[in-house]
Amino acid sequence: MQKVLVTGADGFIGSHLTEMLLEEGYNVTALSCYNSFNYWGWLEGIQHPNLTVISGDIRDPHFCKHITKDIDVVYHLAALIAIPYSYVAPDSYVDTNVKGTLNICQAAKENNVKRILVTSTSEVYGTAQYVPIDEKHPKQPQSPYSATKIGADAMAMSFYNAFELPVVIVRPFNTYGPRQSARAIIPTIIAQIANGLKEIKLGDLSPTRDFNFVRDTCRGFIELSKCDKAIGQEVNIASNYEISMRDTLELIAKIMKSDVKFVEDEQRLRPQKSEVFRLWGDNTKIMALTGFSPKYDIEAGLKETIEWFTKPENLKRYKANIYNV
Ligand SMILES: NC(=O)c1ccc[n+]([C@@H]2O[C@H](COP(=O)([O-])OP(=O)(O)OC[C@H]3O[C@@H](n4cnc5c(N)ncnc54)[C@H](O)[C@@H]3O)[C@@H](O)[C@H]2O)c1
Repeated sequence: MQKVLVTGADGFIGSHLTEMLLEEGYNVTALSCYNSFNYWGWLEGIQHPNLTVISGDIRDPHFCKHITKDIDVVYHLAALIAIPYSYVAPDSYVDTNVKGTLNICQAAKENNVKRILVTSTSEVYGTAQYVPIDEKHPKQPQSPYSATKIGADAMAMSFYNAFELPVVIVRPFNTYGPRQSARAIIPTIIAQIANGLKEIKLGDLSPTRDFNFVRDTCRGFIELSKCDKAIGQEVNIASNYEISMRDTLELIAKIMKSDVKFVEDEQRLRPQKSEVFRLWGDNTKIMALTGFSPKYDIEAGLKETIEWFTKPENLKRYKANIYNV
């Protein structure tokens, strides 16, 4: 049985990936970010004989060395991810995203890990210079978050080049689904409508995104972990389409049978040069490498997401009436 480590397993994508890996028979060590409450985030409630939860912090190199012992595959997802928070706390993004990735790579190297998947993001591309965006598209650091992910990718790639560490840079485009934070557009729309608000507050609705349902993203990760040809490569996980935030809002309102009105909330607008206006990902490379193609279209994915968010026990975890940074 392969032993895998998932960092960021307490978060949105990491918790779904942990569940999928357990379903597929892996022995999973899941890292939850250390806190004094021993709170395991979205890992709370997930129990399985092949699951071990460890609390800790990737900013500590000693700890990283400790958790990568006897591990075959590392899925490195732990990161600070909110763009607005990166405007006011960029140092912590450097520490977690760049230094944390360095610590995980160094530990993986010292412990002879067989494969390490480092999670990038479509935000590294910035506003599309051409579409669909393939892996050769230039990187544009339009936010401190994006800058630290570009740095983290480069650090990981340097370990492949300098030390032959078997790194794969996995680059998901916007991912959505149950458990996502209300910082993201889809959960914030659903949570506001589900709470009965008649006017919902959002930022600029003109940008487009390539949305991916979380189970598709996780499948992409697992497929790439099995693909030798992906080593030393940067690989998009994308659906190869784009939809504007406005059309996404209208689709959600239609599925939820709501006639909600939208109001622009100034605090949610990004500085002009920092806003990523267009993201549409090319998924030719992952398809050629692994045969991956997304199983969920936007409507099917939104329906599952809405079903989860509208359950009272889930909805009550979200603060729909405030701007979640
Ligand atoms: N959600 C998306 O649309 C999306 C798109 C592309 C890439 N990504 C990437 O996917 C990964 C997971 O994102 P997510 O959406 O699940 O976010 P998330 O915030 O839900 O998960 C990230 C997790 O990392 C953990 N973490 C943060 N700092 C840590 C530290 N110092 N030590 C240990 N753990 C720490 C947090 O506890 C959190 O649960 C990130 O690397 C993100 O950049 C996300």
